[in-house]
Parts: sequence; structure tokens; C-alpha cells
Amino acid sequence: MERLHLTLRTLLLLCVVYNVYTYNITDEDQLHKDLFTNYNNELRAGNDRDFPLNVSMTFYLMAIKEFVEATSKFSVNSVFIITWRDERLSWNPAMYQNIQKTMVSQNKIWLPTMVTSNPFEEAQGLGSDLVKVFLYNDGSCVWVIMQSFEVICDANVKYYPFDKQFCSIRFGTYSFDSNWLNITFPNSDINLIYYEENGLWEIEDTLAFSTVDRGAAEIIFGIYLKRRSTYYIASLLVPMTFVAVLQSFVFLLPNESGERIGFSVTMLLASVVFLTLIQEKLPESSEPSVSILGYLLLGYISLGGVVTLVVIISSNLYIETKPVPKWLQHLCCERQTDTDGSELYSIKDVPPAQREDGFKEQCELCWKKIGMKFDRFCFVMSIILYVVQVIIFIAIVRD
Ligand SMILES: *[C@@H]1O[C@H](CO)[C@@H](O)[C@H](O)[C@H]1NC(C)=O
Ligand SMILES: *[C@@H]1O[C@H](CO)[C@@H](O)[C@H](O)[C@H]1NC(C)=O
Ligand SMILES: *[C@@H]1O[C@H](CO)[C@@H](O)[C@H](O)[C@H]1NC(C)=O
Repeated sequence: MERLHLTLRTLLLLCVVYNVYTYNITDEDQLHKDLFTNYNNELRAGNDRDFPLNVSMTFYLMAIKEFVEATSKFSVNSVFIITWRDERLSWNPAMYQNIQKTMVSQNKIWLPTMVTSNPFEEAQGLGSDLVKVFLYNDGSCVWVIMQSFEVICDANVKYYPFDKQFCSIRFGTYSFDSNWLNITFPNSDINLIYYEENGLWEIEDTLAFSTVDRGAAEIIFGIYLKRRSTYYIASLLVPMTFVAVLQSFVFLLPNESGERIGFSVTMLLASVVFLTLIQEKLPESSEPSVSILGYLLLGYISLGGVVTLVVIISSNLYIETKPVPKWLQHLCCERQTDTDGSELYSIKDVPPAQREDGFKEQCELCWKKIGMKFDRFCFVMSIILYVVQVIIFIAIVRD
């Protein structure tokens, strides 16, 4: 689809060039012969060598093909329009049946060649043999380049999936001294009129400028990107939190059901599945920073591990037969003083009418009550801890 679009646009351009038929092929052939006898394409354009050549560059972003955070690969489809003046290629239209423009192959004339200076794999030069350069009678050259570029863009995933990224496509003019060319950008940004929206990334801003780097001019096209995070909220953040919070409810499961450990471990495994999902998407790097979402998940899993441990301990409480130690007795027993001054123990919540002799012995075996109290306490605590984690995550991500 993308390719077709570009091809159609090329055809359209070709039609525009060929719409004036006041001359014939002999005339144009003569023009080419005259232009290229004694033309040396090794020499930079510009008569006065004391001044830099003015080169105007417009970068049209067509589409963001892909941005793989895990490998730092950023690739785009783009069109460049580069114009400059080469006086050697000017002619008088009156001498050539009013020919105003013509086209030549790129390798026949001098070009302001550039190579990507932050390539993902191999450095790519600008231009291809498939497209020609337009020449106008005043010596203006218009070089239209349709090309895909793959560059390195290190993602900072600290705020993933609410992150913003800055990616740049850089070109170096390493074949020229930095003061041979005066590269200008008509709008000092990237032209987005042909841009097709990307489903994952929203372009917030763009910029274009040139600097001098290692003795050569470096041209930088920067793109500020913002991730569209709705999908990640629905498919990652909400389910992940739901599974984690569900883990707390193990404390409401009756111990007699015998399902508590199974439930805990299953929920823990479900959280680990999310960990795998996130690991696939994010780069394995600790610089510039690790994703806060990763820390949130680590918090969920750690708390899940603690919950599982506590469930095991709590299940043991229910089957304990040893006497309840003194410091725990107040949880289930009431100590009263009888009329004659001797101590009495009674199990809480049992109406006095049903109380029997031997309270003290029963009281020593009230582990089940302690277990239930412990479970209720742990349920509330774990819910609070999950909520605190979510609040901290939101607070960090939002600033
Ligand atoms: C092209 O036009 C020139 C004069 O304008 C004429 O002399 C020549 O014969 C023409 N060539 C052809 C192939 O028609
Ligand atoms: C480049 O452009 C500037 C401003 O338009 C102009 O003054 C200068 O003469 C141009 N340089 C050349 C070599 O044409
Ligand atoms: C470069 O081009 C710009 C715009 O054409 C012009 O204003 C500036 O003076 C030029 N710089 C040099 C060093 O020629």
C-alpha cells in the first residue's frame, strides 16, 4: 500500500515534468550533450569557492514503519526534496526550443551526498538509481528521494506505557568540509502533509537543524513521539492489577476447603505470565532507566509470594493443638474473676448460658479463632498494600 502510494506520486511528478511539448527529442538530446561535455561530477557546484553552496532540504515523513523498543530499531518511510544550484548545468532556453527542464540520472551530476550517521545496520546513502534529478534552465537541481531509513533510537521506557520518546534521523556530509555547504531547512521542521498516522505512536512535534560534528555537517531530523496507551491500559495494566488484587481474596477462602494454597500459587503464576509479556516488549537495559511498570509488577509478585507464605502459616494455625500462649489468649478468651476471687476463662462470643466447666482447657485450644482473626487482618493489609502500590505507580507516572 505504502509502495503503491509512492509510485503513484512519482508518476504524477513525471507527468508534470513532461507537460510542455514544444520541443522534440533531438533538441533535448542536444541539450544533454552540451551540458555534459566538460562536466566533471567530482567537483562541488558553486562558481565562487569562497562561499558555501546553499542547499535546501525538506524532509517529508510518510509513515513510521516500526519502532522496536527492545532492539532500539526505528524505521520510517520518507521523501526528501533537496535543491541547490549548479551553474554549470544552466542553459538558455531560447537556444533549445524553449526547454525549461529536463532530468538526468543521479550518477551523472554532482550531488550533495549524505549518509545516515545513526544507522541501525549499515550506513545508508541518500538517493537511489531508480529516481532521477530534475534540472531547470537556471541551473537549479531538484533531487527527490524516496527512501526508507532504519536508524537507532534508544527508547527510555521509564514511564512505559505512558512514555514519550525522541527519535532522530541523522545524516552526515562526510564527503565535504563542514563549510562547503550551507544547508537550510525551509520550515525548520519535518513536513507532515503526507504523513499517515501510526496506530501506536502519536507525533507531538518535529524539528530539523544542522550542526557541525567531527569536521562535517550533521543534519538532524528529530521526532517527538507519544505512545498511545489505551491498548496497554486495557490489555496489560488492568488485568495485571486485577489478578494481583484477586490474590488477597485467598484469605476469605475457608481453610477447610483445602483450596487455599492451590489458589495462591495459581494467582502467582498468572502474575508471572504478565512479567513474561512485559519482558518481551521492553529493552533488556538498565540505562537510562528501568520501567516503573516492571517495578510495579515486581511489587505485585513479591506481595503475591508473601501472601502465599502467609497462607501456609495461617493454614497451620487452624490445625494447631498446642495450648495457646498467654500473649495470644486475649484474642479468643476472656479472663474473668469469679465471685470467690478465682480466675475464670471463657471463649469469646459464647453466651454465658452455654459455657461449661473446663473453660480453661477449651480456651487453650482456640487456635481456629486466632486463625480467622489473622486471615481477616491479612486480607485488609494486603488490599491496602496493593492499593498503595497502584497509587505510587500512578503518582510517579503522572508527573
Ligand atoms: C526536431 O526539431 C528540429 C527543429 O526544431 C528539426 O530540425 C528536427 O528535424 C526535428 N527532429 C525530429 C526527429 O523531428
Ligand atoms: C546563499 O543564500 C544567501 C541568502 O539567500 C545568499 O546571500 C548567498 O549569496 C547564497 N550563496 C550562494 C553561493 O549562492
Ligand atoms: C545560508 O543560507 C541562509 C538562507 O539562505 C542565509 O541566510 C545565510 O546567510 C547563509 N549562510 C552562509 C554562510 O552563506
